[in-house]
Amino acid sequence: EEMTRSELIQYLKDTVKPEEGLIPSYIFSHPKVYELEMEKIFLKDWLFVAHKSEIPNKGDFVTREMGGQSVIVTHGADGEIHVLLNVCTHRGMKLCRMDNGNQKNFTCPYHGFNFRNTGDLVGIPFEKVVYGDTMDKSKMGLKEIRHEVYADLIFATLDDDAVSLNEFLGDIKWYLDLAFNRTEMEVVGLPQKWNVDGTWKLGSDNTISDSYHTLVSHGSIAKLGLVPTGDYSKYGYQIYTGNGHGLNLGMPNPGGFAFPENLIDEYKERLSDDQYDILENMKNMIVCVSPNIMILISSMDLKGQQVSHTSLRIWKPTGPDSMEISSWVLVEKDAPEEWKKLSVQANTLTFGASGIFEQDDTENFTDITQNSKNPYHLQENIVYNYTMGMQQKPVEDFVGPGIVYKDKFNEANSRAFFRNWLDQITAE
Ligand code: FES
Ligand code: FE
Repeated sequence: EEMTRSELIQYLKDTVKPEEGLIPSYIFSHPKVYELEMEKIFLKDWLFVAHKSEIPNKGDFVTREMGGQSVIVTHGADGEIHVLLNVCTHRGMKLCRMDNGNQKNFTCPYHGFNFRNTGDLVGIPFEKVVYGDTMDKSKMGLKEIRHEVYADLIFATLDDDAVSLNEFLGDIKWYLDLAFNRTEMEVVGLPQKWNVDGTWKLGSDNTISDSYHTLVSHGSIAKLGLVPTGDYSKYGYQIYTGNGHGLNLGMPNPGGFAFPENLIDEYKERLSDDQYDILENMKNMIVCVSPNIMILISSMDLKGQQVSHTSLRIWKPTGPDSMEISSWVLVEKDAPEEWKKLSVQANTLTFGASGIFEQDDTENFTDITQNSKNPYHLQENIVYNYTMGMQQKPVEDFVGPGIVYKDKFNEANSRAFFRNWLDQITAE
């Protein structure tokens, strides 16, 4: 039987029990749950739309989606960044149908209204003939979407009442600095995109807490000798910073320092001593910024040296049971060219669309999601176990902010993520 919306909200509150480590299967594909997510998360939260280095020059733009809504992110003629609703104000045609480019103006394919890259309406075909003097063009500009920038990451929100980006990110900024503020970073090429028959939530869930799967899901990589065998993925910290954001920090790095050495003075200048200390010793860092961003620094031995690579991806929902992954690879702008090449190679080999880690992970997301679609799962309320680490206590002596657990084999962060998710989708 169909549940009404308020019945569903009550059912969610009754059946999703993050603090007890109980997460029901139906949430991974139920169309009505997805509707709530779109409305209460993706129409409200700050979402990543672009890195500043993607639009360095006046006129540069990229088109992106926020909760299914297309927006144009421009470096306007006025020198400012604009996030513009990609909808013509005349009668609603999608204005720009390119992924990226450089343009002073956007001309609507329907009747030819012409907008500057700042959003202003500047031209109407036969304006005098069809409107006389009646059209006030200054009121017909493209709708500007609220945006803010942190560490060159451009975020936007469709909710004018949302808290500031600063408040939304909170303590996760301390860790974002390691990825994007240690030196100037730049995106390499266009984001890679691919589709997965799995829900976006499993991407975030895996990102925020799951180092445990590495042993098994990625076991073949250890057998190939590309990563150590055994429980290497356990060592480090699992950290939750609030608002659904958290990370797994793998350290120490037995392979040694994994960043371009010519920039060491700059890292020390831009980061605090404690932050630099972590950078110096990290093997990897996997950050989830809620709802759907994954930031990854990982390192490996390539051509006889330790090479780190830095990337950002979004798990973009495309339906209750599917997502599109978009992945940006970033490099240190001032690293030697040879090093940049190695860093990109390391990323492509491991976490690119055909990367050896990537293939393993998306297989898990797909099968869990597809299973959850069977009506039997809702009928019987099949529930999954997220209790790992409940016997552990956080440590107090870690240098960074957040609730911190020693070692990464823990589902504490998933419990916190689903609590935040549940509070959001069941909010009045
Ligand atoms: Fe764009 Fe008419 S809908 S010009
Ligand atoms: Fe994985």
